Amino acid sequence: MNTPFYFDHNATTPVAPEVLEAMVSVMAEVYGNASSIHRTGQAARQKLETARRQVAAFLGCDSKEIVFTSGGTEADNLAILGAVRSSQRPRKHVVTTAIEHAAVLNTCAWLEREGVAVTYVPVGADGVVDPSDVQRALRPDTVLISVMHANNETGAIQPVAEIARIGREAGIPVHCDGVQAAGKVEAKPRELGVDFYSISGHKLYAPKGIGALYIRAGAKLEPLLHGGRHEQGRRPGTENVAGAVALGHAAELAQSRLASEARRLSELRDRLERGIEAAVPHVRIVAGRSPRVPNTVNVVFDGVEGEAMVIALDLRGFAVSTGSACSSGAVEPSHVLMAMGMSRKEARSALRFSLGHSNNAEQVDALIEAIAESVSHLRKLSPDYAHA
Ligand SMILES: Cc1ncc(COP(=O)(O)O)c(C=O)c1O
Repeated sequence: MNTPFYFDHNATTPVAPEVLEAMVSVMAEVYGNASSIHRTGQAARQKLETARRQVAAFLGCDSKEIVFTSGGTEADNLAILGAVRSSQRPRKHVVTTAIEHAAVLNTCAWLEREGVAVTYVPVGADGVVDPSDVQRALRPDTVLISVMHANNETGAIQPVAEIARIGREAGIPVHCDGVQAAGKVEAKPRELGVDFYSISGHKLYAPKGIGALYIRAGAKLEPLLHGGRHEQGRRPGTENVAGAVALGHAAELAQSRLASEARRLSELRDRLERGIEAAVPHVRIVAGRSPRVPNTVNVVFDGVEGEAMVIALDLRGFAVSTGSACSSGAVEPSHVLMAMGMSRKEARSALRFSLGHSNNAEQVDALIEAIAESVSHLRKLSPDYAHA
């Protein structure tokens, strides 16, 4: 059974009806292997290449620059490991940031075990990386910079274009994890000037199990998998045609409603933030003054455990999160919030609300009421709440 009111779109989105329809029809009727020469295979090839053109149009690039993957994690791994391994240097160094998703951080941690040096550039209290810190982190052996476009927990948008310019001037390729930005703000890797850009279907109203990596024409990349010549040899394995079709449709849909949804969701976001501030004392909006994607709200509720709030709100019919889906359930407080200078206790008191297509003003108002009730109830029980 689903929670009636879903405010966790940064964890995942429901599949849009038109995307589902397109995907199911391909699954039912277009079963060919896109590499087969006969018409059954060519019908699949045609669907796959149409989807690739749709994703390329969405990202503002050439369809030859799109490689389909199983999702954001694989796209991040392919870009980072693939770029680092394509370098022939005897010593290698990677620059990334302290607020990346685990898909990037743990890939970098793996590289460290392989002997690659990694610098994790810090962020300010606003949750934004300072490009001059990236500049300062560069070394003669730096082979890659990886910086996310929008943070999954705070929604803070990073100065990717400036960082890409620094990379270009130093001759260092730049990867950008665009998983939480694509569909919420313009996601155009060429305009940003990056070499690699990751996206994920299930954050964009397509299903889990499909994503894509933009690889700038001419960028060097070693494949992670070895097999046939699929995806120009960069991601071998018989293609997930239905998944690609779903991503293509979702990308088209996202582009067509980008501006209107950005307006609508930022109004809802402001309504939610103002409503929480008015109804609940001792709260703090995280990264509230930073450039942000329009759908993400992160709030610290003094003296309340985020996990307890997630459960209290679930019981009242609202699905929310403490932060990254991958770390929810884990005991560790958010590395993103701690990188912004919060104490462990503060970081544990944060809650993320991520809005999406199904949300409206009535739901937001009901959520504010449920938050106020839950916070007041939990604070009565909390030994940590100093303002009682
Ligand atoms: C910023 C970011 N990067 C990468 C990922 C991983 O994407 P996927 O779930 O498609 O593997 C996520 C998922 O939460 C994310 O938020």
